[in-house]
Amino acid sequence: MNLSIIGAGYVGLVTACCFAELGHKVKCIEKDSEKVKMLKKGSIPIYEPGLEEILKKNIGKNLFFTTSIADGVKESPVIFICVGTPQDRRGSADLFQVEEVAREIARNINGYKLIVEKSTVPLDSHIWINKTIQRFAKKGVTFDVASNPEFLKEGSAIEDFMKPDRIVIGVSSERAKKILLDLYSNFKCKKIVTNPQTSKLIKYSANIFLATKISFINNIADISEKVGADVNVVADAIGVDERIGRAFLNAGVGYGGSCLPKDVKAFIKIAESAGIDFKILKEIDRYNDERPLMIVKKVKEALWILKDKEIAIFGLSFKPNTDDIREAASLKIIPQLLAENARIRLYDPVAELQFRKIFPESEAVRYFKTPYEAVEGAHLLLILTEWEDFKKIDINKIAGLMVIPIVVDGRNIFPPAKMKKTGFEYYSIGRV
Ligand code: UDX
Repeated sequence: MNLSIIGAGYVGLVTACCFAELGHKVKCIEKDSEKVKMLKKGSIPIYEPGLEEILKKNIGKNLFFTTSIADGVKESPVIFICVGTPQDRRGSADLFQVEEVAREIARNINGYKLIVEKSTVPLDSHIWINKTIQRFAKKGVTFDVASNPEFLKEGSAIEDFMKPDRIVIGVSSERAKKILLDLYSNFKCKKIVTNPQTSKLIKYSANIFLATKISFINNIADISEKVGADVNVVADAIGVDERIGRAFLNAGVGYGGSCLPKDVKAFIKIAESAGIDFKILKEIDRYNDERPLMIVKKVKEALWILKDKEIAIFGLSFKPNTDDIREAASLKIIPQLLAENARIRLYDPVAELQFRKIFPESEAVRYFKTPYEAVEGAHLLLILTEWEDFKKIDINKIAGLMVIPIVVDGRNIFPPAKMKKTGFEYYSIGRV
């Protein structure tokens, strides 16, 4: 099929590259001309394993980049909207980019079009896109607006796209249903065909449920610490029950990233506008917002006075295998440590560049190329992301390089007994 993907952010870029890899002719439209220049040269502005290879393989063959929505709309019967839906001041999804795109599509419609929402958008946005296109397009144009939410995770986005657990299609016409089922005909997973409202509610429900699991297990971790229990053993044991499942029961520094925090806040507003006070979700959100403070408290309990202490931090991204630092715990924890006049020594395998844009190198904030350099002369090591490399680190060497071997492990990556045996004062999450 001839497809247009509007927006070359995380979702848009992965969608464009993967559809091209599957043999479709894809035009990816991005208004940032610098980004388009970069993509045309075959390099990607984000760190996502395997994505650059697919881009390089398909560029100029099945995959084309442009800044012009007009080109894409005229050539493609199917148009995916993948633009950002950032959080506005009240916590709702801000849809100004979606509206802008809808107007631009309307001005260029030249035959039947299927417009598909892939970004996470409120439950009634398809109605507004429909209205906007009717208002700005020539009379008599035919089109459908459908929803096809994306469930990809950063760090494993290609695998998630190519081998999804399910494909959700929200349509209001048989024509739209047929096009989308044809597009995904080679995918063997379960396909759910429903109306657009339900389709979008599925996407939000998935994300807020995942957030709920994380805040739930973090609460259990707090209790575990107080009573001398082990949250990991609890998670393993309850996770065996198929009704519960082990995934997303890793206690830690709280959920971050571009989706879960934003979607939880947006859904509270969606519920509110439907006249429903989603109290559990409000509590999940509040608890997660406070989670970084709890980590700072642990650091203070371990060190007492932070002034002039050298604190090494491993992991700046919101999770491993990505350089994305959006809503990362590191962004909230580091300012608190700096406010207490601690000196920070940072190491992350890929997120350093992104982090430097917000925290430039200074006397109090320094960056290191290896974890061993970062801990040299440190009074405490704080782990904020569970990169695989950190799990394989030589802990004897780390202990030898530190002034005092204290570790606050925000991701439970080390076995407590082994750490204590090596001579560490070791604090983790919900374990004794
Ligand atoms: C999420 C959803 O998983 C995905 O389906 C959706 O399409 C987009 O949002 P992503 O933001 O890439 O994906 O990250 P995810 O792997 O879900 O992790 C989110 C946050 O939760 C991270 O900060 C992670 O560290 C944290 N997390 C995850 C935990 O703290 N504990 C867990 O057990 C799992």
